[in-house]
Amino acid sequence: MERFRNKIAFVTGGSRGIGLAIAERFAAEGAKLAVVSNSMEELNQAERQFKAAGYVMLPLLADVSDADQIERAVARTVSQWGRIDILANNAGIAWEEDFLEMKDNNWRKMLDINLNGMFYTAQRVSRQMVQQGGGVIINMSSTNGIVGEAKYAHYNASKGGIVLLTKTMALELGGCGIRVNAVCPGYIQSPMSEAIDSPEFVEAYIRANIPLGRAGVPDEVAGVFAFLASDDAAFITGTTLVVDGGQLAF
Ligand SMILES: NC(=O)c1ccc[n+]([C@@H]2O[C@H](COP(=O)([O-])OP(=O)(O)OC[C@H]3O[C@@H](n4cnc5c(N)ncnc54)[C@H](O)[C@@H]3O)[C@@H](O)[C@H]2O)c1
Repeated sequence: MERFRNKIAFVTGGSRGIGLAIAERFAAEGAKLAVVSNSMEELNQAERQFKAAGYVMLPLLADVSDADQIERAVARTVSQWGRIDILANNAGIAWEEDFLEMKDNNWRKMLDINLNGMFYTAQRVSRQMVQQGGGVIINMSSTNGIVGEAKYAHYNASKGGIVLLTKTMALELGGCGIRVNAVCPGYIQSPMSEAIDSPEFVEAYIRANIPLGRAGVPDEVAGVFAFLASDDAAFITGTTLVVDGGQLAF
């Protein structure tokens, strides 16, 4: 199946974890990739991996919380390929912190990367999509964007913001042929979740919270991004799709 043949996919945070799986899925179905990360080492590694699979990837070193860097990354992609068909707005960070002890700097850093970065990227790519007459945007939220989780006030606020950013973009951009949706994963095995949680915590968490009885894997989120980016989702915009093994069914 080559649903994205000749399409250009711009994937932020595509150098590892869920973003890497998303980029790989788009490339496996024919897309050319522009991959943004703030780690050159990870970008080089992803490029080697994709090259070996015969995929085309433009590595873009940029910090999503810096609007100028993102603007340059978008311009570089357009100068290389003339358009951007799909944006997977995925880059994000997370760590635990008690609300009462939370440092202002830490609050700002979380919002700068997870929410402001998502806005800068979405707006700059949307401007290009308006010019070219359409496109598809998928913003990475989380189940934490729908329900709260203790010790994640900053993360929850950023992910909740993404849900309403997504809906508002869908309202304003639908007339320009641009669909905008959000994906809300639950617990997914990735370098991010492995850095935060011990195996014992994960086991107990899964038992208590996830009806399917296991964590998700990055490719299960990538498949949902691919669906939303494809023509099978041609009448879907402004929605949030939960990928959580049933966690929010409680
Ligand atoms: N893992 C989970 O359980 C889970 C659940 C719900 C939502 N998410 C969301 O999915 C997304 C990806 O998460 P993951 O688990 O793959 O995380 P990860 O830490 O494994 O990967 C994050 C990626 O984002 C990039 N990145 C981080 N900060 C950046 C910055 N300032 N500028 C540019 N790139 C930056 C990293 O280089 C990396 O490629 C995040 O938005 C996260 O909040 C993850």
